[in-house]
Amino acid sequence: MAEHWLIAGANRGIGLELARQLKARGDRVTASVRNEEARAALAALLAPQHAEVETLIFDTRDFAAMQKAAEAVSAPIDVIVANAGAFGPALQSALGVDFDAALDLFSVNALGPIRVADAFLARLKGSSNPRIALISSELGSMSNVNPSTAIYSSTKSALNKLAQCLAVELKPRGVTVVALHPGWVKTDMGGPNAPLNVTESATGLLATLDGLTIEDSGGFLNHRGETVAW
Ligand SMILES: NC(=O)c1ccc[n+]([C@@H]2O[C@H](COP(=O)([O-])OP(=O)(O)OC[C@H]3O[C@@H](n4cnc5c(N)ncnc54)[C@H](OP(=O)(O)O)[C@@H]3O)[C@@H](O)[C@H]2O)c1
Repeated sequence: MAEHWLIAGANRGIGLELARQLKARGDRVTASVRNEEARAALAALLAPQHAEVETLIFDTRDFAAMQKAAEAVSAPIDVIVANAGAFGPALQSALGVDFDAALDLFSVNALGPIRVADAFLARLKGSSNPRIALISSELGSMSNVNPSTAIYSSTKSALNKLAQCLAVELKPRGVTVVALHPGWVKTDMGGPNAPLNVTESATGLLATLDGLTIEDSGGFLNHRGETVAW
């Protein structure tokens, strides 16, 4: 059954491939980008078969812009994928921190997905299986200690805790919330040495998201649907 998906951060990388695969299988996609240039680029990347993807423009640090964008989307949305994220400052050590850059990264990676979920939450009304996927990383796992990615990893740890709490808050409303690790993927962020390509990651993420029910809410899963340690 075709569903309506919101993909936040869809002009490149994993988000772009999610949008591409969803359109190819006949789902409705609302995709967010950050500016008109990216909107045109996305349309070109998805053309000619999938040019009709609906696009919204917002930065996930701008809650007011997202609230306004949400008003323009016809409900219901079935799945919100808060995918937008960044790696942040070149120096990632917990010593010598660039505090302004680190704070900005927390706004993008930890609070950004929560802003997306909050701004579009009302649009899930009417879905028979509403789901929210917060794209995290296994680098945020407390059992994965890597000082060379301390800043990025800690933003994803914070997102994981927010995911757990949001799942508990939304369970009574029947909304499933999970944190998802997409694997280590060849993208601008993942780099050329990553073992997975975007096709494999997105295919696995969609299979995982397709199978989610409220019983799965509060989980931390990877692109193979396996549980990741918090
Ligand atoms: N690649 C990996 O190996 C890997 C592993 C674990 C987790 N992840 C996570 O997976 C997600 C996607 O990663 P990716 O590898 O596809 O990264 P990517 O290729 O660098 O793409 C990042 C996407 O996020 C958007 N974005 C960044 N900051 C934004 C903001 N403030 N507001 C709105 N959009 C913003 C970018 O838009 P612009 O083009 O406008 O910058 C772009 O569409 C991220 O959350 C990342 O942390 C990736």
